[in-house]
Amino acid sequence: MQYLPLFADIKDRACLIVGGGRMAERRVIVLKRAGANVTVIAPELTDTLERLANRDEISVARRAFDCEPLDRYWLIIAATDDTALNAEVAAAAEQAKRLCNVVDNPEHSSFIMPAIVDHDPITIAVSSGGKSPVLARWVKGVIETTLPARLGEFANLAGRWRERVKQALPDTETRRKFWQAMVEGEVARHVLAGRGERSETLLEKALGAWRDDEVATRTPGEAYLVGAGPGSPDLITLRGRQLLAQADVVLYDRLVSDKILDYARREGELISVGKSPRKPSITQAQVNRLLVRLVASGKRVCRLKGGDPMIFGRGGEEMEALAEAGLPFQVVPGVSAVEGCAAYAGIPLTLRGVSKAVLITTGTSKDSNAADLASFRRGQTLALYMGVAQFAAVGAELIRNGHDPDTPAAIVENGTTDEQRVIRTTLRDIGEAREKLDIAAPALLLVGETTRCADRYNWFNPEGFERFGDTDRTFAQVS
Ligand SMILES: C[S@@+](CC[C@H](N)C(=O)[O-])C[C@H]1O[C@@H](n2cnc3c(N)ncnc32)[C@H](O)[C@@H]1O
Repeated sequence: MQYLPLFADIKDRACLIVGGGRMAERRVIVLKRAGANVTVIAPELTDTLERLANRDEISVARRAFDCEPLDRYWLIIAATDDTALNAEVAAAAEQAKRLCNVVDNPEHSSFIMPAIVDHDPITIAVSSGGKSPVLARWVKGVIETTLPARLGEFANLAGRWRERVKQALPDTETRRKFWQAMVEGEVARHVLAGRGERSETLLEKALGAWRDDEVATRTPGEAYLVGAGPGSPDLITLRGRQLLAQADVVLYDRLVSDKILDYARREGELISVGKSPRKPSITQAQVNRLLVRLVASGKRVCRLKGGDPMIFGRGGEEMEALAEAGLPFQVVPGVSAVEGCAAYAGIPLTLRGVSKAVLITTGTSKDSNAADLASFRRGQTLALYMGVAQFAAVGAELIRNGHDPDTPAAIVENGTTDEQRVIRTTLRDIGEAREKLDIAAPALLLVGETTRCADRYNWFNPEGFERFGDTDRTFAQVS
């Protein structure tokens, strides 16, 4: 280990920054966040530093550094763009036996600034030992995406209760088990889900009733109805990924990719409950029963669904089954196919002056959606889920309803994945396009003027872009 990681208490302690530019500004802000008493020596300051000086939040000596003694400072940072001057500051700090960081110069530094993940009071410092600050910042980004946003709130709650728990549970091992159960159990789950107000009561109750042998029975299960997004593994939300990583059991749908399942924890059980159209498969009633049974037995169950759980995802029925059984659940939205496919095909769903409403419907059977299709108007965008087999019928129905056969449409197959295909066509030709180009599920049909934008903005997979039929009416750019 080249450097010793330390968390220094610099609150109200004098710290010096030599330099008044952007690099100095960033360091001043970090030191101020830790409560330091900051002095800046520099002839000129950035606007932000000027503002801090005007509000007396920093002290400023408006002059060049002058090889002066530095023993009144606890910590020193040289942040000028003059290498020789920075070296002089480092030498003066060395003389005063004070720790000094020279920005972008580990050789002259006696400490280096880490990349910081700040979930106050939980703080994580990442360093590459000065070898690659960019890599350290990337690692910090990876850590940030895996941590729950309300981590600090849980740490603060634990801080408030620390003494009280110590009094109630004087034995260290018992106390450790208690806190472990709180971190893994209901209390942390409430805080991290933003229901912090209930957590104090729950903690009090848990402490009052605590006995070691009851750990398992004291953590009831919970269901997480999580949207996995439309296909690409990086389109699951941060919250969804965190809950997936915590779950004891994952019940997943057919359209959830293996890459997303890799986010589940290694010891977690993975159960496929996917339904295949026109093939015998598990029924929704069976899924509901399984979900209820697992949660009732104390498991944390992640019910992972393609897209968003509340858009053609049976989320409503599963919430009802859980509510009926009196079991707790959380819902985490996902990027639905309509949003994912439109974005990855370069199609705005609404566009000023072109489309101001989106009609989301399904084409599961020939007749079931006739009423919905009848409500589709020019000036809107239609998104048809689960309708591959009905594309020809839907096109014909819309033309019968008075829409121009040349109305632009787009079919997005395997949207957001490496296999994405976008077929720009017209109402007249969607049925034939589907047949001739061998379109298979999962595919989404979009109809309306904005689909024309794919001709120009199809950014994600240009090789997978085709036109079918007479789509040549020029793209009219609308501002
Ligand atoms: C049972 S629905 C689930 C919808 C999902 N809950 C959502 O919000 O996207 C399945 C249908 O969603 C559409 N779909 C899902 N993923 C898709 C993708 N990657 N590309 C195109 N369409 C997709 C298809 O129409 C598919 O038949």
